[in-house]
Amino acid sequence: MINIAILGFGVVGSGTCEVLSKNADIIKKRIGEEIYVKKILDLRDFPDSPYKDRVTHDADEVFGDPDIKVAVETIGGASVAYEFTKRALSAGISVVTSNKELVSTHGPELIKLAKDNNCVYLFEAAVGGGIPIIRPLYKCLAANNILKIAGIVNGTTNYILSSMKNEGISYEDALKEAQKKGYAEADPTADCEGIDAQRKIAILSTIAMDGKYCNPESVHAEGISKLTTDDIALAKALGCELKLIAFFRNNGDSSASAYVAPHFVSRECMLADVEGVFNAVLVEGDYLGEAVFYGRGAGSYPTASAVAGDVIEACCKGSVDMSLRAWDDSVSVFKDYDDIKSDFIVYSKTEDVASVFADAKVLEAEGIKAVIVSAVSEKELADKIAGKSGIGYKHYLK
Ligand code: HSE
Repeated sequence: MINIAILGFGVVGSGTCEVLSKNADIIKKRIGEEIYVKKILDLRDFPDSPYKDRVTHDADEVFGDPDIKVAVETIGGASVAYEFTKRALSAGISVVTSNKELVSTHGPELIKLAKDNNCVYLFEAAVGGGIPIIRPLYKCLAANNILKIAGIVNGTTNYILSSMKNEGISYEDALKEAQKKGYAEADPTADCEGIDAQRKIAILSTIAMDGKYCNPESVHAEGISKLTTDDIALAKALGCELKLIAFFRNNGDSSASAYVAPHFVSRECMLADVEGVFNAVLVEGDYLGEAVFYGRGAGSYPTASAVAGDVIEACCKGSVDMSLRAWDDSVSVFKDYDDIKSDFIVYSKTEDVASVFADAKVLEAEGIKAVIVSAVSEKELADKIAGKSGIGYKHYLK
């Protein structure tokens, strides 16, 4: 029997207990041993839970117990969770988490701490919820150069943008509706300002660059709070969908680019049809070509599915190849946003934008003049149209 502990018995922590318990038989068949939740560390009591007898408020009962091999950190945030994760790993207890804030900010230190103590720090659930994406990137695609990642990695904002489009409502009304349905939090800042997506693309980018650490703070993040129904209508007129895209590119010269911004996504792109709370991550590898990982990016059960998968992986440590590379934060290969060249659609109802961007591809659209401007930084673009009124632009994903 392998004993584990749950740190934080909220929606994901309790969901993980449920998956491990309801599917205990098949898990035992697969790994040859039973996984038993021995302790649940939380400030609260859960008198109605079948696990109530295992709840403790005393961290020493978990980190001082030599029988506990794996801890599931589902506390969230980067303060208590950070301290508990360090305590667990220092004691040789593997840690599994869905905490993208902690992984993206302290990943280099925590992965090293795990290796130094002969245990593992796993975080499949931190990006894309239940969608397998972390392990496929560093294991299944290990023979590829990862050239590009474009992800819809935040369900709240994708839900809001879908509602704005399908119901013709404003950002504010769509946000209220998302809050009422429990998709958006009371404080929507992290989701709607692109911070959640910034953390997630920082994690994916680090893995895609073989552990060369992408600090989320260096990733430009623009959210959706300034988008209007006019932007949605414009996207439609241009044959595109308006999506919040978290983007990574390996520039092929030892540098990389990562940013989060609203994009006009061409209808030809596999991300165009991703609606509502769903997530999708498009990965391009030099030998793979393009593949899309699609599914539920949040919610108790999908996230618990990924967490429980990591628990099983951590329990099998030693019998499987743990090839998650160390994260190196000694130098950054990630470019400043002002130096990142990407593609934009530039549009105007009044100005002849084709004459401003002579070499750009002209788009045919009713009531609007638009061009695709390739390989330009946002700063260069803004400088070029400075002083010309009535011209707007958005990032473009083909
Ligand atoms: N707030 C996140 C989202 C939850 O809306 O996608 C999952 O990370």
